[in-house]
Amino acid sequence: MLQRPRRNRKSQVIRELVQETTLSEKDLIFPLFLTEGTNKVEVIKSMPNIFRFSLDTLLDEIASCQKVGIHSFALFPHFREELKDSRGSLGWDSTNMYLKAVRKIKETFPAICMITDVALDPYSSDGHDGIVKDGEILNDETLEVLGAMALAQAQAGADIIAPSDMMDGRVGYIRRILDKNNFTNVSIMAYTAKYASAFYGPFRDALDSAPRHGDKKTYQMNPANVREACIEAALDTAEGADFLMVKPALSYLDVIKTLHDSSNLPIAAYNVSGEYAMVKAAAQQGWLDNDKTMCEILLSIKRAGAKVILTYFAKEFATLQMRTK
Ligand code: PBG
Repeated sequence: MLQRPRRNRKSQVIRELVQETTLSEKDLIFPLFLTEGTNKVEVIKSMPNIFRFSLDTLLDEIASCQKVGIHSFALFPHFREELKDSRGSLGWDSTNMYLKAVRKIKETFPAICMITDVALDPYSSDGHDGIVKDGEILNDETLEVLGAMALAQAQAGADIIAPSDMMDGRVGYIRRILDKNNFTNVSIMAYTAKYASAFYGPFRDALDSAPRHGDKKTYQMNPANVREACIEAALDTAEGADFLMVKPALSYLDVIKTLHDSSNLPIAAYNVSGEYAMVKAAAQQGWLDNDKTMCEILLSIKRAGAKVILTYFAKEFATLQMRTK
């Protein structure tokens, strides 16, 4: 045998020399859930070790994340049902808890990267990402609301606006509104290929944001399609996106790879709530090793071509890295 691939695996040092992909806490964005009130740290049953924080406890959480090297955060709000309406009007009310929190967080930690979420679902009495009329999700009417939300978030200090709604044309619509209002430096991370996925279940528990009627299949993508992701990527790129995101990550590694190979924009992947919950559930049963599984999953997402990973494992991974350094 002239070729013996095992030679390059014979010691830890050589294995590290030939290692093609490395993962750093700097690649990670930590999604955080915000709820009303003070002094709250609420358990989310389907997401062990992830909590809903009130603003005061959230500030402590961000400080503790920074100590382990996590500096980017994607914030999602949980609102009481009574505050929601069909247009998600609360979403662009500058006095709402979410926008107040963004302002306070950026004031307290100016150096962090704050990623805000644009979509109607946390504010919508229908639990959909757009305006619903007679069972239909209206596209162009929704754009106006998304634009108002994005502008309010930029005014509150968001570094990156992340539209997760999947309406057509929203990246360009938001880009124009931001630019018109002198927010040319606020970035857009587009949820480019967001699939209609069962893996969002625990997230919807966390926010009480499940659709009240129907599903999200008329706007989120069909899990069977990858070529269609290229159409979305071309549109988001032409409309001014700074990042292209694939979501979920694990069942869509081929989509990550396809976008990575066909675009020069940085690719982000969202390792979603259900992917997190599966590992936690199995680890709690003693069926999987939590840390090894976490590292392998995150590495695989990076290997597929994601530069940036949104993951509920962010703090845990960073803590583990610190301990093993
Ligand atoms: C909705 C939104 C969802 C997630 C992020 N933004 C759920 C959905 O589309 O119903 C899911 C994230 C996760 O599962 O971790 N705008």
